[in-house]
Amino acid sequence: MTDFIVQMKPFFGDEEKRSIASYMDEDGFITEYKRTELFEKMIAEYTGSKYCVVVNNGTVSLTLAAIAMGLKFGDEIIVPNYTMIATPNSIKIFGAVPIFVDVEPETLCLDIDKTKAAITTKTRAIILVSANGRYPQAGIKAFEKLAKDNNLILIEDAAQSLGSFYPDGRHIGRAGIIGSFSFSSPKIISTGQGGCLITDDEEVNYKLRRLKDFGRSAGGTDTHESIGYNFKFTELQACIGIEQMKKLPARVLRKKEIWKRYKEQLAGVTSLNLFDHNLKYTTPWFIDVKVKDREALISYLLEKKIGTRLMYPSINKQEAYKVPGNFIVTEDISLNGLWLPSFIQITDNEINYVTDSINNFYKR
Ligand SMILES: Cc1ncc(COP(=O)(O)O)c(C=O)c1O
Repeated sequence: MTDFIVQMKPFFGDEEKRSIASYMDEDGFITEYKRTELFEKMIAEYTGSKYCVVVNNGTVSLTLAAIAMGLKFGDEIIVPNYTMIATPNSIKIFGAVPIFVDVEPETLCLDIDKTKAAITTKTRAIILVSANGRYPQAGIKAFEKLAKDNNLILIEDAAQSLGSFYPDGRHIGRAGIIGSFSFSSPKIISTGQGGCLITDDEEVNYKLRRLKDFGRSAGGTDTHESIGYNFKFTELQACIGIEQMKKLPARVLRKKEIWKRYKEQLAGVTSLNLFDHNLKYTTPWFIDVKVKDREALISYLLEKKIGTRLMYPSINKQEAYKVPGNFIVTEDISLNGLWLPSFIQITDNEINYVTDSINNFYKR
């Protein structure tokens, strides 16, 4: 095995190239138009949502979701302390206050009891992150009830969850009033940068469309009924996205196979704990594990030309936030969490090589 096995890499094929080339032969504006509409339609159909609005990325999508729901400066919004930093940053941008809450040790999604305990008179919303495609063990219905009982807006940050479903059949992202996805590289599908919002609410869909297009009353006019910005997509990205969406069902299957193979082959390693998935419903994006002797393992794997990546550190401890608090699970992940090679093109042989190397490391 001579090639370096990276932790993640994007995957675009000839179909994407042809799609862009054929678009460039047409007389197009390149900005959002028919291809973007088709891409949105494909996502809406796949997720079963009534509406899909694509935007530039999965950070601004969360900002727009919050603004569309009327969240504003000073509002407290509950977010997990274990997530990509975009989740709290997306609301910090307009002065809302992220309230960090610890996550469940099994799923790395918000802990419901700790979420309840964090609710104050200033709390207006919860952003539930489906970590690596998983849903909270407490159940999504418990979160829906918690939000309803406390008059809170439930927004789902499903950036990592395209291809993952709740046991009741709904695609993740459909439980909240708005669900947000990211197509940054390398998600299960990617448009380089990109994101989208799904909702079943017609008025919310209308607001989101105004917000991303300068508050225009309709496309191509300069009449503005509300304040809006420019968070639009491009047809070139949509050309890629359409081809990527066609590949999604096969990728979902392969991601599950990859995870199963890792699970079987690492079952005997007591110093490593693979975070669980119920493959009937959810699709692992990354192979996430908790390990003993993390730094030594990383160095050993590097010598074997295997790339890994540290899982997200506790956000409350990041220089950008520095918020006090006791977050046992997040802290544990900060110290011991690791992502193993997870890219969609990884071969079975490469997985065998990675798992053999890990087995050998712990046998020494
Ligand atoms: C949970 C979560 N939220 C938000 C984002 C931000 O998405 P983007 O990179 O498209 O801005 C990411 C990106 O990985 C993410 O994992």
